[in-house]
Amino acid sequence: MKKQTQMENFIRNLPKVELHLHIEGTFEPELMFKIARRNGIKLSYQSVEELKTVYNFSDLQDFLDIYYAGANALQTEQDFYDLTMSYFEKIYRQNVIHTEIMFDPQTHTNRGIPFETIIKGIHRAQKDAEKKFGISSNLIMSFLRNLSAKSAFETLEQASDYKEWITAVGLDSSEIGHPPSKFKDVFKEARKQGYLLVAHAGEEGPPEYVWEALNILEVNRIDHGNRSLEDEKLIAELAARKMPLTVCPLSNVKLRNVEKIENHPIKKMLDYRLMATVNSDDPAYFGGYINENFLAIVRALNLTKEHVFQLVKNAVDASFMNKADKEATSNNLEKYFKQHND
Ligand code: HPA
Ligand code: ZN
Repeated sequence: MKKQTQMENFIRNLPKVELHLHIEGTFEPELMFKIARRNGIKLSYQSVEELKTVYNFSDLQDFLDIYYAGANALQTEQDFYDLTMSYFEKIYRQNVIHTEIMFDPQTHTNRGIPFETIIKGIHRAQKDAEKKFGISSNLIMSFLRNLSAKSAFETLEQASDYKEWITAVGLDSSEIGHPPSKFKDVFKEARKQGYLLVAHAGEEGPPEYVWEALNILEVNRIDHGNRSLEDEKLIAELAARKMPLTVCPLSNVKLRNVEKIENHPIKKMLDYRLMATVNSDDPAYFGGYINENFLAIVRALNLTKEHVFQLVKNAVDASFMNKADKEATSNNLEKYFKQHND
């Protein structure tokens, strides 16, 4: 078999773990039109093709405006179920065995959708996916950082009846001008309540925001973290702490944080011994799910099977699985790698 095809098969067949995924970012245009139609909602675009023409983003905010507009079509518990289930169907075909899904409650509660409608739909799909596909998953509730800390507190309060369904809280949306420190108190309260913590930092924002996420929010993982590479001390700190970075290569190119995939810093991150992982972020908008992300970096950066294995192993170790599941998954992955590394 040709070397290229062999590598592609290796990536496709490898059991994988995804740690950075916005469920609203998996809303494929076809499903968006279907759900909008059944809810009697008129989208601003006439067709799937016309909608796709606006998927050419100049930056994070430009993307977010389109992403939030798309999410407006979601109204009922069944809509959230269908959205989540169609993501699980996709990743089942890509051999993802565990995923940690972010959802943005405020995107929906601010337009009158009850918290319970959102979470019940997502949770039911998680249960069904476990039964049907054997995919385990955790849920991460993300606060929109462009909104107030008070609004984040209200969201934390709304989640209290569903605490056992939510593993961690996160921080996403427009980064610049909304540093992690703005959410110090609500993250402290979430930690007190037993949630694990993640935050987007260093996607567009400066290294200082990554420092704040580490030292003020005391997060368990950094989402993105790319701009950490501008600060040598921060690189050393992230490496010393074995702090996971949930990196999203196609997202970085689509949102123009990296000029082209050949310039993507993920190989550099591994060279610095940073705990980088590969993720799809908003796959319906950025041109691919986890396999497409792996294929893109492997081709552009000439990564080896060892690199790919390290990236997946990092994701297992950085996941919020319980200790026994983590050990079992790690052992299976190692066994798989030994059998297929020829
Ligand atoms: N960055 C910040 N917020 C987001 C993103 C992202 O890439 N996707 C969805 N919300
Ligand atoms: Zn993200």
